[in-house]
Amino acid sequence: MYLLGYDIGSSSIKVALVNATDGTVRGTAQHPETEMLISSPHPDWAEQSPEDWWEAACTATQKLLATVQVSPRQIAAIGIAYQMHGLVVLDKQGQVLRPAIIWCDSRAVEIGNQAFAALGSDFSMENYLNSPGNFTASKLRWVRENEPDIFARIDKVMLPGDYLAYRMTDEICTTITGLSEGVFWNFKEKTLAKRLLDLYQIPENMLPEIMPVFARQGNLSADAAKSLGLISGIPIGYRAGDQPNNALSLNVLRPGEVAATGGTSGVVYAVAEQPVFDPKQRVNSFAHVNYTPENPLTGVLLCINGAGSLYRWVRENMGAKSLSYSDLEQLANTIPIGSEGLSILPFGNGSERMLGNQNPGAQIMGLHFNRHNQRHIFRAALEGIAFAFVYGLEAMRDLGIPVQTLRVGNDNLFQSAIFSNTIATLMNLEIEVLETTGAVGAAKAAGVSVGIFSSPEEALGQNLTPAARYLPAQQTYGALVEGYSRWSGLLAAR
Ligand code: XUL
Repeated sequence: MYLLGYDIGSSSIKVALVNATDGTVRGTAQHPETEMLISSPHPDWAEQSPEDWWEAACTATQKLLATVQVSPRQIAAIGIAYQMHGLVVLDKQGQVLRPAIIWCDSRAVEIGNQAFAALGSDFSMENYLNSPGNFTASKLRWVRENEPDIFARIDKVMLPGDYLAYRMTDEICTTITGLSEGVFWNFKEKTLAKRLLDLYQIPENMLPEIMPVFARQGNLSADAAKSLGLISGIPIGYRAGDQPNNALSLNVLRPGEVAATGGTSGVVYAVAEQPVFDPKQRVNSFAHVNYTPENPLTGVLLCINGAGSLYRWVRENMGAKSLSYSDLEQLANTIPIGSEGLSILPFGNGSERMLGNQNPGAQIMGLHFNRHNQRHIFRAALEGIAFAFVYGLEAMRDLGIPVQTLRVGNDNLFQSAIFSNTIATLMNLEIEVLETTGAVGAAKAAGVSVGIFSSPEEALGQNLTPAARYLPAQQTYGALVEGYSRWSGLLAAR
């Protein structure tokens, strides 16, 4: 038997086929191979077409099936991970009413700030663990205020993963973890965030029915099966936002465990036993995949929007399009720690939650024409992103969240030794690199709901051995502290 997992990223849809018996990966595919379109009709906006996600999921699945000798009949369940905090709106006929407003779109920051003031910061933190901020509920309020004709036609709102599941099954539902990432969930009352919904004048019945994260959430319809190249009836057995899912994929399910990822956005995600919040709002808290009202396991999430997005930009725009990321690493390695005075602030992908939802933009600072070249830019970009992680990790430690080991997947920025060593040394922590991905984790998690595994721990613990470790290196500490002090000084002065 096999399990199929999807990860709807903002740059592509990834799919993985996993052997349920031994947890080995039978095949993976992604579409598009390059970058999926994010349209930005206004400088602060970021939108994607839900239809593009669906078409990319179909193409990726067909590509995968063409490379593996597995009959779709052998697929026992499907799991879905997705980019968080997005807004998809559907009319009564189930048609999408406007492009999805995605996670890195900053248009609703002011709306969220006003709601935070109106609700009272104590009320908001104690009940929602967050300010309504720039999350999905505030984005929906933006639609109400600015596109009243569209708002009037909305029957249901959903998150990107709910939408993919809907396209697969024709069933509209969501999860508590999903509601929490939109600030639609009240952790204290264990109900919908009614006061915020009232304030925003959003009818409760716009929100889908709640289903457990690990459950049969619907079966693949005949039409969807045809488009995907699968067979009808396969159950969708799991869905979660990409960050809780990344944690799950790394078997980060218990209090005290910490996961991280360095994709388009960079995230550190720690599991706490009880709901906790950051009064300074540098980190956010959402329901973890295994949250239940009785056992409220919470994910404390530090997000840096400008992470891999900066590194990709640098590669594409600094004359390195034809080079691989390992070529870039080699070039960056020829430059000493601290990039000889060049500093980069990576915040060019929308408002940064860690910085109170300010949107300072990316900045290249200390550039000297007779001293610096392309290789300095590569190194300073990696260091700048790593310094942003360090800055956020310090906030997490401030909150009393112990971070001794970071578990990460063997992909994206953590493949860079420059990046990983900078974090490990400055934070005096160990980084454990595990051979897995979000799509693989989502596939395994789907096995729980169909009885292949008895628990998420059993599903995810399988075949998870560290491929590499990064340890603090005392000999580089002094030079890194110097670079980090300069960087954080520039951040404070901006
Ligand atoms: C997490 C966040 C991003 C998106 C990226 O809170 O906003 O990491 O989930 O898809």
